[in-house]
Amino acid sequence: MSGKLLLTDDVAYKALAEHYASTGSSLNMKNLFACNSDRFDKFSLRITTPNDGDVLLDYSKNRVDKKTLDLLFNLAKARKVEEARSALFSGERINVTEKRPVLHIALRNRSNKPIVVDGQDVMPEVNSVLEHMKEFTEQIISKKWVGYTGKPIEDVVNIGIGGSDLGPLMVTEALKPYAVGPRVHFVSNIDGTHLKEVLKKVQPETVLFIIASKTFTTQETITNATSAKKWFLETAKDESSVAKHFVALSTNKEKVTEFGIDKCNMFGFWDWVGGRYSLWSAIGLSISLSIGFENFESLLSGAHFMDQHFVNAPLEKNAPVILALLGIWYHNFHGAETHALLPYDQYMHRFAAYFQQGDMESNGKSVTLNGTPISSYSTGPIVWGEPGTNGQHAFYQLIHQGTRLIPADFIAPAVTHSCISEGIHHQILMANFLAQTEALMKGKTPDEARKELEGSNLDCAELEKLVAHKTFSGNRPTNSIVFKQITPFTLGLLIALYEQKIFVQGIIWDINSFDQWGVELGKQLAKKIEPELRTPDEITSHDSSTNGLINFIKSNWS
Ligand code: F6P
Repeated sequence: MSGKLLLTDDVAYKALAEHYASTGSSLNMKNLFACNSDRFDKFSLRITTPNDGDVLLDYSKNRVDKKTLDLLFNLAKARKVEEARSALFSGERINVTEKRPVLHIALRNRSNKPIVVDGQDVMPEVNSVLEHMKEFTEQIISKKWVGYTGKPIEDVVNIGIGGSDLGPLMVTEALKPYAVGPRVHFVSNIDGTHLKEVLKKVQPETVLFIIASKTFTTQETITNATSAKKWFLETAKDESSVAKHFVALSTNKEKVTEFGIDKCNMFGFWDWVGGRYSLWSAIGLSISLSIGFENFESLLSGAHFMDQHFVNAPLEKNAPVILALLGIWYHNFHGAETHALLPYDQYMHRFAAYFQQGDMESNGKSVTLNGTPISSYSTGPIVWGEPGTNGQHAFYQLIHQGTRLIPADFIAPAVTHSCISEGIHHQILMANFLAQTEALMKGKTPDEARKELEGSNLDCAELEKLVAHKTFSGNRPTNSIVFKQITPFTLGLLIALYEQKIFVQGIIWDINSFDQWGVELGKQLAKKIEPELRTPDEITSHDSSTNGLINFIKSNWS
């Protein structure tokens, strides 16, 4: 257990609170830029990758000055971020409620340096599963693996939910330009519509179902998998054909065998891989089948590269630490409740959805590591977002002129994979990304708004009224993360950047970022309600609202 001071009692936190109360809350970015011509140089970071160009993190458009940042770095030190980072990478059981180490970093440990758990290096096992994935991927892509009628696999359907779905879905979408293998589809929702619609697109003879579930007990996944198997056998007839069309990704050998999947077709992983951190494990099989194993390895290498940066860079030059601290500044001092992720890349359209789970399931906690309820500060923010420029025409109005402060990350590749019409689309896309961050920072003064309205036929009173509506306060913070192009390596790096940011925030808040007890209660109650939906009797065992809803639904079934 951490034995840490409550965050708000920490001297380093109190120093920030004082700074906020004196000058920190009124820092104005426009003034800060005006007074400091090298603000961009001071408050940006370039990370040079071996082959994929530089990644630029520009954090100059934030409500911070040198003092704010110094105090934030002090906070990171006081909260023992460096010690926690060492504990993470050395395999300590930092997931204290489940008594597990947290070792997704081992899955992408391209250095192969031993990582020891209970006296045993986990790397040989990690490498052996990777080898299995490699062999299988090569067989599928080379069409040597054939289905029960001798035809190669044309479509892969990943059946999983949460961490066993969102990562592979986000990555296969983001890396579509690298696709070399069969088409990939994803079924997650227990709503039968999801499976039904995907099954319309595939043929039993040429489909491969990947049943992805760490526990192999998740109701949605097992129900969808069982229905998929039933659909398959309606055509294939023979149970022995299942071996050619169903594989499992799981930690639970017993349940996989019980389901009827050959253990040779099982790709294992370990309880020290959290669901929302599992795309680097066997759970990434659909990624490997889509983009090829070499590209999957590049994804791992990009993440490993970021891990190395996180481990070795001083806090002041450490991208995940900087992002985490800026988040703390807004959430804990400015009272911001949400954080927007805005990729200017259509291929990255599931990035925000992926990090909704990554961040909110990790840091949506309200007790400290030793179980003390947290009431004096807030923890994980609400994470949301959509790709630009679509978001601009939907919700940016609120970011620009609403009453709430919404820190946002703009994520953009300098080079597109879709250079059509002489690159004009990408130029417009980039111009919009740049314009939005500039507008959010600068805003529009009443004088500027007034000037724009000069020459209109409005009388003085009408004009002044309109000026109020056309004024933008500005001073709305953004980070810009720009990289050369979205490649497997760069994407791996970006995902790890956000994972480590989440980790750092969890350490500062003194919470367990690696359990998720909060999702259990709903699961338990659903199990109780399910049989009640099957009886014709009126249900009276719940509160009157739940009883009323159950009875209304059933009345529509009779
Ligand atoms: O919803 C909770 C959760 O446990 C997630 O953390 C996890 O990613 C998801 O369910 C799926 O779990 P499994 O891979 O065991 O099916």
